[in-house]
Amino acid sequence: MIDRSNSPPRAFVIGWPIKHSRSPLIHNYWLNNLVLAGSYERLEIRPDELEGFLSHLQEKGFVGGNVTLPHKEAAFQLCAKTTATAAHLAAVNTVWIEDGQLCGDNTDVAGFLACLDCEAQGWDQTCQTAVVLGAGGAARAIVHALMLRSKPRILLVNRTRARSEDLRLHLARQFAVEIKLCTWAELPEVLETADLVVNTTSLGMVGQPQLHIDLAPLPARAIVSDIVYVPLETELVRMARSRALRAVGGLGMLLNQAVPGFEKWFGKRPQVTAELRALVEADITSTTAGKI
Ligand code: ATR
Repeated sequence: MIDRSNSPPRAFVIGWPIKHSRSPLIHNYWLNNLVLAGSYERLEIRPDELEGFLSHLQEKGFVGGNVTLPHKEAAFQLCAKTTATAAHLAAVNTVWIEDGQLCGDNTDVAGFLACLDCEAQGWDQTCQTAVVLGAGGAARAIVHALMLRSKPRILLVNRTRARSEDLRLHLARQFAVEIKLCTWAELPEVLETADLVVNTTSLGMVGQPQLHIDLAPLPARAIVSDIVYVPLETELVRMARSRALRAVGGLGMLLNQAVPGFEKWFGKRPQVTAELRALVEADITSTTAGKI
């Protein structure tokens, strides 16, 4: 049980750096909207401060919080209990204190699925082959999510072969998944059979190199998803839409991954509303104007 009995629950997002996090905007919107007592604050915690911070949450009056880069794996190691999803990913983005113990979940998986369910309804009915771009931590969460639903064949496209092989090994330990490792040069033929394409790399993000892909080989049924949400419409999403393909940007995943944490800490399940989306979109637009 989470103890919220003493004073209004306090939650946090920790990272290093942390100043660009939109999580305070999201959680404070829900706190106000649901008229709940509580607070959600942004804290910059260096890697060498992490263990000390997470070991004394209750003394500081915290019920839990979000964990972002570069702490997701280290925080997982510090948890006494985790969900099965977090254990499979060996990373947490959401922690809470339950019966005095630090517990963790990885809600990126649920956030990605909720986002596709909402913005590309019926995607899992037809998703037999998924092309996943990238093989880092985000790719691990996305492939895990796909295995919980339509269990497609995965065509994994990554620059560094060793990382693709690591991910394949990791996934093979948990799922009966068919994963083919591909190079970027093979992308034109890889796209020909895709029902879903997901970009899990940082390419296309403000300040990063563009993701230049010719989407012409994609079948008309294909859905394109980008987990990048700054800019709101990446070049990949724009190109997909210009081909009249269904395309999903990364903002929905960000908004939906926040839902389970809020419910844990503050006791009410919040909604991802059009008003919340507009609020975060306005913030992203205003803080990134002129940086692309
Ligand atoms: P995350 O945990 O957010 O997934 P990461 O583990 O650093 O971040 O992974 C980033 C992914 O983007 C990797 O798949 C990386 O490819 P490599 O494994 O070859 O490094 C990919 N990526 C980043 N910059 C890239 C670039 N300029 N070209 C191709 N792939 C890139």
